[in-house]
Amino acid sequence: MTATPWSAGLRGRFLAFEGPDGSGKSTQIAKLQAWAESQGLPLLVVREPGGTPIGERVRDILLDPAHEEMNVRCEMLLYMASRAQLVQERIEPALRAGSCVLSDRFVGSTLAYQGAAGGLLEADIRAVAQVAIGGRWPDLDVLFDVDTETAMRRLNPLLDRMESKGSAFHRRVREGYLAESRRDPKRHLVVDASRTPDEVFTDLLKGLEAWTSRLSPVAAC
Ligand code: TMP
Repeated sequence: MTATPWSAGLRGRFLAFEGPDGSGKSTQIAKLQAWAESQGLPLLVVREPGGTPIGERVRDILLDPAHEEMNVRCEMLLYMASRAQLVQERIEPALRAGSCVLSDRFVGSTLAYQGAAGGLLEADIRAVAQVAIGGRWPDLDVLFDVDTETAMRRLNPLLDRMESKGSAFHRRVREGYLAESRRDPKRHLVVDASRTPDEVFTDLLKGLEAWTSRLSPVAAC
């Protein structure tokens, strides 16, 4: 693949990939990693919850199907705890070094899962997020949007604690994501993720190119 000049516009930018379980996010992340390599673009990919030794232990607690009794406030705070560590230990240093950083889920997931679907107030989640991330909000949230039936069909039958919450919950997750993208369209790129991985990836690159063309350059570090 030949390098395209706009890919340099992603240096020093912080992207979050968001979407319901079964949206095909992981496939798109792998494709973007291969593409970034072909472009000579330094890209750090991290996942949430997790991404650090502490965060991976928090992830195990969060996703363990045995923890059925976990309440939504505890859940939200654990996601934020993992996030706080990830921002300070990995995301900030990489951005300072001029890498593009891609987080597989970030605050957008908490707003959709613990907020829109779980019932916590958006303002409360934002207030806790501000403490956890110290103002390091993503430059862009990419939402891989897919209807709940298609998404559920794509899931591995061995569901984790969050995936097992049922289709009504997951429908509210999707609606929450879409509502957030409508509320703040400049900071969101919505990609129709119901199609084939190659079609989705083509749209993703087109959307990123259009977004980078609207940006002013990152301040030199
Ligand atoms: P994943 O790594 O397969 O995307 O799984 C993470 C699960 O945790 C997924 O079901 C979404 C959920 N989640 C939340 O409920 N809130 C959050 O803040 C994050 C980051 C993930």
